[in-house]
Amino acid sequence: MPHNQNTDYPNQGHSTLYLGAAYYPEHWPEKRWPEDVRLMSEAGFNVARMAEFAWSTLEPAEGEFDFDWLDRAISQLASAGIVSVLGTPTAAPPAWLVQQYPEMLAVDESGRRVQFGNRCHYCVNAPELHDATRRIVGAMAEHFTNPHVIGWQLDNEYNRVCYCDRCRRLFQQYLTTKFGSLDALNQRWATRYWSQTYSAWEQIPIPIGPHNPGLMLEFKHFVTESYRQFQRLQLDILRPHLPDGVWVTHNFMNWFDGFDHYALAEDLDLASWDWYMGTGHNDYLASGAAHDLVRGFKRRNFWLMETQPGTVNWSSVNNSLNKGEARAMAWHAVAHGADAVLYWQWRSAPNGQEQYHGTVVDQSGQPRPFYEEVQQLGREFADASPLLTDSTSTARVAIINSYDSRWSIQWQPHHHDFDYVAHLIRYYRPLAARNIEVDILPPDAPLKGYRLVIAPALLVLDESTVERLEEFVRRRGHLVLTARCGMKDEYNALLPTRQPGPLAEMAGVEVEEYYALQDEIPVVGNWFSGSSQLWAEQLKVLNNVVAPIARYGPSNGWLDDQVGITVNSYHGGFVYYVGMVLDETAQQAFIDRILKTAGIRPVMDVPQGVEVRKRVNTEGKEILIVINHERAVQTVQLPWPAHEHLTGLAVGDKIKLGPYGVVLLSQSD
Ligand code: GLA
Ligand code: ZN
Repeated sequence: MPHNQNTDYPNQGHSTLYLGAAYYPEHWPEKRWPEDVRLMSEAGFNVARMAEFAWSTLEPAEGEFDFDWLDRAISQLASAGIVSVLGTPTAAPPAWLVQQYPEMLAVDESGRRVQFGNRCHYCVNAPELHDATRRIVGAMAEHFTNPHVIGWQLDNEYNRVCYCDRCRRLFQQYLTTKFGSLDALNQRWATRYWSQTYSAWEQIPIPIGPHNPGLMLEFKHFVTESYRQFQRLQLDILRPHLPDGVWVTHNFMNWFDGFDHYALAEDLDLASWDWYMGTGHNDYLASGAAHDLVRGFKRRNFWLMETQPGTVNWSSVNNSLNKGEARAMAWHAVAHGADAVLYWQWRSAPNGQEQYHGTVVDQSGQPRPFYEEVQQLGREFADASPLLTDSTSTARVAIINSYDSRWSIQWQPHHHDFDYVAHLIRYYRPLAARNIEVDILPPDAPLKGYRLVIAPALLVLDESTVERLEEFVRRRGHLVLTARCGMKDEYNALLPTRQPGPLAEMAGVEVEEYYALQDEIPVVGNWFSGSSQLWAEQLKVLNNVVAPIARYGPSNGWLDDQVGITVNSYHGGFVYYVGMVLDETAQQAFIDRILKTAGIRPVMDVPQGVEVRKRVNTEGKEILIVINHERAVQTVQLPWPAHEHLTGLAVGDKIKLGPYGVVLLSQSD
């Protein structure tokens, strides 16, 4: 067997770092469970997540509950020091329930009821679903007050959008409340356009495909609200039964665009997410942004509730992660604020849609080769856990993430390759390459304490966001506004001003024209040159304090020699306006210069492909997590003598990192 027999894991049951997997004991005869528990224990697991799709096993018929098996699973795991996280099983309404209430099935865009059996088949607004949810969640909440259950996950990866008549009526009601009168709605949406004027609320459709941008934006808000209500329904049932300290989360899908994640996260105790690579390998300069995004949901550490143990089953090529890569990814997650890493899933189920998905234990019940890597993590998490207690990352740079802006651009990209998230990552990546910590935050987040704020394509603006940005700059902040900023109001209507609208005074520029680019065009900057891709904005400088930073070279005639990037000094702060989409090299040079001006420096300089992140605990103790994301050996020069916590050894002025090598350093006293 490719695992050792060391069962001495001091973190089990009482640690701050958790390692585990999704476990579905209902798939196996009970006599097998002790072997699973033994293998989990020998892997250093201290948590298992269970029950999230087990509705048909937990409630085989209406009101008939069978919880004993789960009690036994929880207690067997607990006897090996493994705590449980329970899922409410609502993502998988069982066949008997759907047979009884077929109208609880969602309706797709083409008007067809979705089929039972692929999970998330519900209409999130169905009263039949709500009743059944109250029953199963209520019964579970009352029953599972077991001290070994440390947290709950609601449903699983909310994602379904329903187009049924009931949802349409509820959407109309939502609009009534939001707008108060049809006059107000007609005006905000400029419905005289194509004779869309509504004279009764019942006339308003759910948008299918492209539609009035105001209508489309409100529908996203309605979907957000629908899931929020469904989630609150579950929270209100669960919370009164939960012992102190037991938390509730939902496992989100990082950049999924279906709803406003900030609104959903607000009601939860903890944010968590599911990280899958699909085809390819970890691009840590981009994946760090996903972790930072989720850390920003609650502005605190999060759980990595699912991640791939080597492979998935649903991508175009389900290649395996390289040996050591998953371990580096686990530490990468921790370095960005994860307090738990759980693999999906423990063992391949004999049937069902995911037979080929990666697991820790294969269909025969034996550990896969990957198990060895998990064991190593088990040992390392145990060692590092006390060090990382109550620690998190501290960023001086924030990137603003606006769902409204994102949706608006997604529906009218103007250039099919202009993608909001890709644009945000264009700003994240050069920061990550320099190991600068970043918080990714919603537009209404407080900006106190940050030195640099980047607002990529902040297309949709409301007054309070403008005020907050202005206050930030007045506190000597450095603000970067980019192409496609300040063009729309919160109803997705064009502002009656040139871009960046209410931010024009601060930026000291306005956009005279914007161009989607068929081919990249040359740009010449004060300290870089390169090209602008996809997009180019022609800037008009509004005062003589504004300094042009870059101009366009010869291109379409209109843009030739025009200003495309500027900086304005404004009440003690600096406001950059970037009307170009720079190539990667130019972008790095541009961001490097901004960092220098803002006085933001990395913790230490490391070779390319090596990541350094800091977690600081409440006593101010700093632990550096250093990860080599490459397969080549790399040497890192240390600014001070350090202690390496995974080996327990002292290190001098440099340290060698093997392929996917990881070290945890603190400065020697
Ligand atoms: C999602 C789900 C899991 C599983 C994995 C497979 O994240 O939450 O139940 O289906 O995908 O990759
Ligand atoms: Zn519906």
